[in-house]
Amino acid sequence: MISLICHNEAETTAFGHAFAKILGPGDFVGLDGDLGAGKTFLSKAIIHALGVDDYVTSPSYTIVNEYQGLYKVNHFDVYRIDDIDEMYEIGYEEYFFSDGICLVEWSKMVEELLPDEHFKISLKMGEDFNTRVIEIQGSSKRLEDKLEAFYEDFRH
Ligand SMILES: Nc1ncnc2c1ncn2[C@@H]1O[C@H](COP(=O)(O)OP(=O)(O)OP(=O)(O)O)[C@@H](O)[C@H]1O
Ligand SMILES: [Mg+2]
Repeated sequence: MISLICHNEAETTAFGHAFAKILGPGDFVGLDGDLGAGKTFLSKAIIHALGVDDYVTSPSYTIVNEYQGLYKVNHFDVYRIDDIDEMYEIGYEEYFFSDGICLVEWSKMVEELLPDEHFKISLKMGEDFNTRVIEIQGSSKRLEDKLEAFYEDFRH
């Protein structure tokens, strides 16, 4: 697990840009944290860094927005899913188990559907209005090793 503090939007953006570089085809990232914690803000930075220039907006009403950058990128917000069946109705498997990259806000609401291998990003409000505490976990040794190596690099 890695943990860091971003003191303002620019630091979160820079972190998102750097983190995006470790993502590749088939990778899955769940993002959790309270309303306004910065899930969409960080997703946007990651998606831009994946070569998407036409990022539209938060998928909170559409559930999923699809982009084409270096890879296919699927940005989900499952906050408005009332019943897990709705995930089957939108054919979530076609996205979660594809060779695109998935970013899923409020992933804990669909915990039982997540691929075994995934990153989890948790965002929390920090000491002041613009500070965020970000934690990232990899669900496997492979992803944890990748994260550690990335963070070692990022800090220097
Ligand atoms: N350091 C920071 N990192 C990220 N966002 C920040 C930071 N400082 C201020 N903000 C602001 O916090 C807000 C985060 O909103 P955002 O929509 O990303 O939250 P969210 O977690 O996606 O919420 P929701 O659950 O409603 O989707 C944005 O308005 C952003 O500008
Ligand atoms: Mg959001």
